[in-house]
Amino acid sequence: MTATQNWNPDRYSRNARFVSDLAGPVVELLAPKSGERILDLGCGDGALTEQLAAMGCNVVGVDSSGEQIQAARGRGLDVCIMDGHQLSFNEEFDAVFSNAALHWMKAPDDVIAGVRRALKPSGRFVAEFGGYGCITKVAAAVYSSLARRGIDAAAINPWYFPTIDDYVARLARGGFDVTWIALIPRPTVLPGEMTGWLETFAETFTAALPPQDRAPFLSEVQESLRPDLCTPDGTWVVDYVRLRFSAVRREE
Ligand code: BEZ
Repeated sequence: MTATQNWNPDRYSRNARFVSDLAGPVVELLAPKSGERILDLGCGDGALTEQLAAMGCNVVGVDSSGEQIQAARGRGLDVCIMDGHQLSFNEEFDAVFSNAALHWMKAPDDVIAGVRRALKPSGRFVAEFGGYGCITKVAAAVYSSLARRGIDAAAINPWYFPTIDDYVARLARGGFDVTWIALIPRPTVLPGEMTGWLETFAETFTAALPPQDRAPFLSEVQESLRPDLCTPDGTWVVDYVRLRFSAVRREE
């Protein structure tokens, strides 16, 4: 995750609670069993880690954000700060679970290698994250507003939204058999304005601007998206696409 993206837990709760609220299908795919030892990779403020613990799992959460880990610890969870590219576990988990985190990790082969090391033989890797085509309209608006200000957004883009083919190939090379995978368009209703979403998730881009230019930039992006992403009653609906999969560690 890039250093300019911060995860303020209050802002996250206000603008992004839908991230864990909409995780039902990936939790179902994980099919956690009581007593299983599970790693929640990119656990954020621990909302889903807590759900898994309440289902009787022995869960450990990791996240690169110290602020989010502090919030998760406030829920009484077993969590620690760790970069998903450098997981340091060794054959101790029945499953590695991840929701809405892998698209922030731009070296996916390193992540997959760490997940494989963390799993017991035949352990499962079950995750959902932004897939190919995710937030295409939002990204295009951000790119063109930054280009008008002389900034090449592609050079600082913090997101990785792979195709099914790309990710299946990486999982196979990384020692996994994919048991299920799908790319799922999921238009997502925001709890507030588009600017709130941008402040929460697109800080890498706003941080590239001088402080006095940030609010006008956010308004400009919002207004350029209004015709496409805002309904007549003022509800914002973002063009999310999810990549959801289940894979098992292959034993040679
Ligand atoms: C997502 O969860 O798909 C997502 C989050 C932030 C930026 C882009 C996509």
